[in-house]
Amino acid sequence: MGCKPARRWAARWPQGLDFLLKAAHHAKAQTILQFFLEVVESSGTTHEQQLHFGLGLRPKHFAPLMGSGIFTQDGKSWKHSRALLRPQFASNRYQNFEEIKKCVESLLSNVPADGIIDLQPLFFRLTFDTTTFLLFGETLSSLQSREIAGQESEFGKAFNLGQDYLSHRGRLGDFYWLANTPEFRRACKISHRFVDHAIQRALDAADAPQHEKSVDDQKKQYVFINALLQETRDKKELRDQCLNVLLAGRDTTACCLSWTLKLLARHPRVLDKLRKEIEYVVGLGEDAPQPTREQLKMMRYLDLVLKEVLRLYPSVPVNSRAALKTTTLPLGGGPDGQSPILIRKGEAVGYCVYAMHRRKDIYGEDALDFRPERWEDGQLLRDVGYGYLPFNAGPRVCLGQDFALLEAGYTTARLVQRFPFLSVPAGEPPVRISEEKQILTLVVAPGDGCRVQMRSSN
Ligand code: HEM
Repeated sequence: MGCKPARRWAARWPQGLDFLLKAAHHAKAQTILQFFLEVVESSGTTHEQQLHFGLGLRPKHFAPLMGSGIFTQDGKSWKHSRALLRPQFASNRYQNFEEIKKCVESLLSNVPADGIIDLQPLFFRLTFDTTTFLLFGETLSSLQSREIAGQESEFGKAFNLGQDYLSHRGRLGDFYWLANTPEFRRACKISHRFVDHAIQRALDAADAPQHEKSVDDQKKQYVFINALLQETRDKKELRDQCLNVLLAGRDTTACCLSWTLKLLARHPRVLDKLRKEIEYVVGLGEDAPQPTREQLKMMRYLDLVLKEVLRLYPSVPVNSRAALKTTTLPLGGGPDGQSPILIRKGEAVGYCVYAMHRRKDIYGEDALDFRPERWEDGQLLRDVGYGYLPFNAGPRVCLGQDFALLEAGYTTARLVQRFPFLSVPAGEPPVRISEEKQILTLVVAPGDGCRVQMRSSN
């Protein structure tokens, strides 16, 4: 097919170990995506890294924490998991929105009027609650008040640490087993214990005699765990499936919200425009009504803001696939990058959506500017095609996309409604886009949180 080799990223040490060391150094300095941008700058947008080990090892890398679930499965078992999860988004639209509203009100009650606050932990708490609602039909808070008070933050910390290890394991490729410390094993154990507990409750409820079931239990609502219980009683299988969805739903949306509020505080022109839109559609201030779903849909600029946030900070910035059979990539081979590239069965293709979303040849000279208007007439979206990929595409496209955009949109609208003049806290140094500290696990989070001065008046 006329394939030609891609440009090489020149490793100086055997097995590409110098790349690994550099990656580890940048990960520690919270600048790893900056490093990837430099690699793309020097080696081209498509290039080959001779690391002598595959990237297609996700199941093995993830196994100790995540086991086997929608993120780690392929083929038949993946298809099955996807079919089990899909009705959650299709049939519970009303309950899902009501739950998001409830959880956002609880978040707002923890934001001090006109004070400075790091919103990031609150966002993680919010998305944890909404995702556990999807999974178990009830939020963590309702579990907490009954039985497992105090465990959330322990779980949250353990789950974050566990994911940190998963990303180290990913970078180590075939040497993933080196990242297996007692600390990692403890993080897995705590994460598992927490989810096991929630599953046990669901098992007990499912096995309770009909007359003992509460009205809540009997409501005809599609709950993922109950659908799973129809299929299996294997506790590890149940745990793995739930943890996989928790990962998909919690961190991605929390990071999107953190970047959104960080960017809004740093771009008063954009905030001003958004504030005016929200004021026009539903009103501002403490006494203004909560936006309805229809009103949210009317907020066109809010939609553009989120699109632009997910361009600059796609929650899943780096991803990979391994070829199931020998195939080709259409471009990237030869000195001019215009020939196809051969990918043999088992070889891996890594792709950095973060770098792609910042390409000047796709987005123009102002690619690094936060400018929601670029999406205004829909032309750019049509032009860039797969050049814009925050939710992936194809058969494994994000299942929670609509849910996530609803949650992120509603939360942003409520925060701006309540604190229309939010800003960067006094004394915080200005940081340019790309140069801020970032923590890359499977998602990319701001390295220094999301500290914002919440102002209700100018
Ligand atoms: C802004 C928020 C979100 C972003 C940017 C996002 C992005 C993504 C991306 C890029 C993938 C593909 C991963 C891969 O195949 O390697 C994915 C998959 C997935 N997402 Fe999301 N996601 C978000 C929120 C959510 C939410 C709230 C849920 C709901 C629980 C969710 C559920 C899933 C599931 C189940 C998959 C796996 C699909 C499959 O493999 O078939 N996502 N997401």
